[in-house]
Amino acid sequence: MPTGPINTFTRSLELNEKLHAMIPGGSHTYSKGEDQFPYLGPRVMQRAAGAYCWDVDGNRYIDWAMGNRVIILGHANEVVNNAVIQHINAGCNFTRPGLIEIETAQTLLELLPHFEMVKFGKNGSDVTTAAVRLARAATGRKYIVQCMDHPFFSTHDWFIGSTVMNSGVPEDVTRLTLGFRYNNLDSLRALVDRYPGQIAGVILEPVKNDEPVDGFLKKLREFTAQHGIVLIFDEMISGLRFDLRGAHHRWGVYPDLALFGKSIANGFSFSLLAGPRDLMELGGLRHDKRRVFLLSQTHSSETTGLAACQATLSEYQRLDTNAHIWKTGEQLMQGFRALAAAESVRDHARMIGFACNPQILCTRANGEYSPELTAILHQEVISHGVLIPWISISQSHGRAEVDATLNALQHGMRAVRRALELEKVSDALVGEAPKPVFRTFNRCKQVRCGLLYPDAQPMDCCTTASGVEPR
Ligand SMILES: Cc1ncc(COP(=O)(O)O)c(C=O)c1O
Repeated sequence: MPTGPINTFTRSLELNEKLHAMIPGGSHTYSKGEDQFPYLGPRVMQRAAGAYCWDVDGNRYIDWAMGNRVIILGHANEVVNNAVIQHINAGCNFTRPGLIEIETAQTLLELLPHFEMVKFGKNGSDVTTAAVRLARAATGRKYIVQCMDHPFFSTHDWFIGSTVMNSGVPEDVTRLTLGFRYNNLDSLRALVDRYPGQIAGVILEPVKNDEPVDGFLKKLREFTAQHGIVLIFDEMISGLRFDLRGAHHRWGVYPDLALFGKSIANGFSFSLLAGPRDLMELGGLRHDKRRVFLLSQTHSSETTGLAACQATLSEYQRLDTNAHIWKTGEQLMQGFRALAAAESVRDHARMIGFACNPQILCTRANGEYSPELTAILHQEVISHGVLIPWISISQSHGRAEVDATLNALQHGMRAVRRALELEKVSDALVGEAPKPVFRTFNRCKQVRCGLLYPDAQPMDCCTTASGVEPR
């Protein structure tokens, strides 16, 4: 059992049943679902402020997840909220374009001078899918190549079809999405050779956990330009975190289309597609070519997201949030690694990635990801008031939060070490270990789950491999 003072989740468990009775999956984002978190933990949240959140049992946590990485200044940021309230009071959705659309476009184009036009959406998926359609329309080609080392691009069929959870997506759609590997231009070259003149666009996060090696991004830029392929950088996570202008700006490599969302409006719903006029205007009225249905939504220009975006960007610059994120990430990483060494779990509890966007990875002795050790660590840190399933550093995470988190992580690492001493690591875990969102079936069809035990007989329910080519 975990050793920390937080051990009551009665109301959370009760309400969780209601959630599942009414809402498939019990949440509106799979990554927030009960199969993603340890059994002993909060299931329903009540409120959040700054770097903290409270569950329905009144337990308080330092929140490093910040929704799905959407909060960059802090929960319920006053400046952002006031800007939103002002716009709500002036009417939140108009019959013709609002003045705020011009102001927001101007702000964004000044910030991103490489691009000439922007189009707004409400979610990341809106704009990744718009970019894919635009790439196909502009090139007249059908295949899209996505980076297989990056886990998620869209809720829409062109991407979901490429996962193992692709029930409901016609195969005709699925086979049009191909996959290449990060830092491996040859894997893209092979696809271009196999489908000559048929690849419309390449989509990837410019940077995730690994440094681009040997000028990879620059070479990718040159290669795609040479082959008339639209290069699309998904900056949903990397944008603002690596650099206000996106990771591509930090590395000095500019795509044809860049996509921002998530934290750009500090949790309010807003996303954008930025690109050059010749491509973007295909979705406009001032040309004589075939019309492209780029993005057109009832709620795209609803003012709360736009007002929040402007206020977030202005506060981010005023506070130099980017420097704060990198510094705080360094503190967290150094502290984590020192603790892992001191607690003799360096091979089992790792912090990987860049300081601005670190990740905790719990591994077996052979270096493979261990869902059980991960859950044991999280079960323990939750009991010490820290929610850190993924890490989304914000302006509101200061030294005090880092220190309290390291303290909880020390307990977490000790729990990992104790678990490793048991005959069965899973005996240290209450409930099941988390499972990948992308799996074909909810439950294992056998006693020993193939996702958790490398020696278990693999069955179709254990599959997590991506469905895209090359396998
Ligand atoms: C890199 C990346 N791109 C796109 C998306 C889709 O964004 P949304 O959930 O806002 O549709 C996500 C969501 O997690 C993401 O992580």
